[in-house]
Order: sequence, then structure tokens, then C-alpha cells
Amino acid sequence: MKAIRIHGYGDVETLRYEDAPLPEPGPEDVRIRVHAAGVNPVDWKIRAGYLASMLPHEMPLTLGWDVSGVVEKVGANVTHLSVGDAVYSRPDITRNGTYAEFVVVRASEAAAKPETLTHNEAAAVPLAGLTAWQALFDHAQLKPGERVLIHAGAGGVGSFAIQLAKWSGAHVISTASAANEALVRDLGADEFVDYRSQRFEQVLAKVDVVLDTIGGDTQERSIQLLKSGGRLISVTTPPEADALAAVGATGNLFMVQPSSESLGRIGALIDSGSVRVLIDSVFPLAEARAAHTKSETGRAKGKIVLEVVPA
Ligand SMILES: NC(=O)c1ccc[n+]([C@@H]2O[C@H](COP(=O)([O-])OP(=O)(O)OC[C@H]3O[C@@H](n4cnc5c(N)ncnc54)[C@H](OP(=O)(O)O)[C@@H]3O)[C@@H](O)[C@H]2O)c1
Repeated sequence: MKAIRIHGYGDVETLRYEDAPLPEPGPEDVRIRVHAAGVNPVDWKIRAGYLASMLPHEMPLTLGWDVSGVVEKVGANVTHLSVGDAVYSRPDITRNGTYAEFVVVRASEAAAKPETLTHNEAAAVPLAGLTAWQALFDHAQLKPGERVLIHAGAGGVGSFAIQLAKWSGAHVISTASAANEALVRDLGADEFVDYRSQRFEQVLAKVDVVLDTIGGDTQERSIQLLKSGGRLISVTTPPEADALAAVGATGNLFMVQPSSESLGRIGALIDSGSVRVLIDSVFPLAEARAAHTKSETGRAKGKIVLEVVPA
């Protein structure tokens, strides 16, 4: 099969479109015929070796941990999925990934593809959608009526987080650049701050929850905005415990986990029209280098997708 693999860490030139062995499913696995693979910043962070100490991978490595496709072979112990099922998944990041014609994932990590989405759209959902879901509901325990600040609302995680927070009944505030104001308001933001021209901590009232997708100075200034009892959930860097304690807040960094149950709930919200999928761009699998170059600009509006089977 064709796959995009790396044989060592480095820049986009390390991405090779080449032949790779067809993966065999174990007893708990399914093999998926990949129709589309989502691109996420973690893909180029792994490619560059930034996460090598935390996530040791064997080379060669197939990148990509978002997939939409069709089950093509099932392991002996798999009972809830069958050959021919259309599924989507954010599989285990320690295994070979989804930038390939076929991928093997644990059956427990796959859920039915939302019926209203194309494979290209569905491949854009799992990693960013699960990250937003787990940040808001599993970690922050966001409640209806609470004020939540979502950084980078025009990005992959942020575009899902705005919609999920709004659906849950929260008051949603988002940062983005001025050019993306209409977009984030259309996704459901009640308040908007252009992070380039305004210091959000000076123009906003205090918030209950911050979803930090940026880290650094943005995270430090966000802590100042938290109410006593507030929560800062980061997906980039661990928040400073002393700074949180000083304002009576709590917080943590987390890594998104596969969850077919949460994917099923997100899929239901998509099919009912409560959540939509924002696609920045679609590239053929063979053009993964261009997709990474785009993702690394940090300017994507929504998600970047690699199309494996032409729609
Ligand atoms: N821990 C985890 O499990 C986990 C899971 C998913 C993602 N992440 C991490 O979370 C981060 C975001 O991921 P993503 O997929 O959402 O990235 P992304 O889609 O590449 O984000 C791009 C967006 O970021 C916005 N942006 C850039 N700098 C900003 C700033 N200072 N303030 C506000 N917005 C800013 C851009 O908007 P403008 O063009 O308007 O500036 C752009 O729309 C990445 O570092 C990723 O690795 C971690």
C-alpha cells in the first residue's frame, strides 16, 4: 500500500510517499480502508522530533492520527463492527498512523462515521473534536451559564470548542485575529477579542473556564482572568500551579485520549446540525508535505485534510 512515512525526524522533506507493508489487524483490531486522514499540529511536532522523549516511535513511522474510512477486515474478537461499516477514529498515537491507504486501529477507538459528512469532513473531526470535548466537559466540567474563554477559535480545536461550549449553554468568548471575527461569531462566540490589537485580560470580565490552545504568555495572562474557582485547561503547556493558586483557580495540561463513546456523541451533534465541520483545505495524500507546510503556518481556518480515496 502507499503511505506517507518518515525514516527519521526532520523538516517536511523527511515525509516520503512510498510503499509500506499492509498492516494486519490483531484480535481486537479492525483494518480500515482510509478514505481521508486529518492533519493536526501533533503530526508535524512528531515529524520534527519535538515529542520524541515523550512518544518514542519506531522508524519508519506512518504519520497521522485522524481517519475516516470503511472497515475492510475485523479481528477475531471484534463484535460491534463489520466489514463495510463506515467509521471514523482518532487512533492510538503510539501506533502507525493514518496517512496511508490502510490503517489498523483498535475497534474500541472507532465509531460510526456521521452520516451527514463526507469522508473528508469526517476525517477532520476526531482528534480536534475529542480534544475540545474532553477539555470542556471531562476536565473543565463546564456548566450551562458559565463564561468560557476559548483561544484560537478559528483553529481546529477552537472551532469545535466554540460550538460544543455554545451547545452546552455556556457564554462563549473567543480570541482570533480580526479577519476571523465573523467566522468565530458565526460558530457561536458571544464575545470576540482580536488578540493582535487588544490585550484580552484588559477588555474581558472574569471567566470560569479557559481553554488554552496557545501556552506561554497567553496562558499566563489567561490565569489573571479566572474567577476564584475557575479552571484553566491547557493542551499545550502545564499551567503554573502557584499562579493558579494565587487567584483561587485550578488547572491542568492533558493529552487527548481515543474514545469511541465521545466520538459517537459528537457525531450525533453533527448529524443533528448542532456542530459543523470547518475545512481549511484538502490535499491529495501524496502532497502531505504541502499540508504540513500549511499547518505549520499556524493560520489554518479549521481543519486540513489529506484525501486518500478521491471523493
Ligand atoms: N494536548 C492535546 O491532546 C492536543 C490536542 C489537539 C491539539 N493540541 C495542540 O493545540 C494547539 C492548537 O491545535 P489546533 O489543531 O487547533 O491548531 P491550528 O488549527 O493549527 O490553529 C490555527 C489557529 O490558531 C490561531 N492562532 C494562532 N496564534 C494565536 C493566538 N496567539 N491567539 C489566538 N489564536 C491564535 C490562528 O488564528 P488566526 O489566524 O486568527 O491568528 C489559527 O486559526 C496546537 O499546539 C496543538 O498541537 C494539543
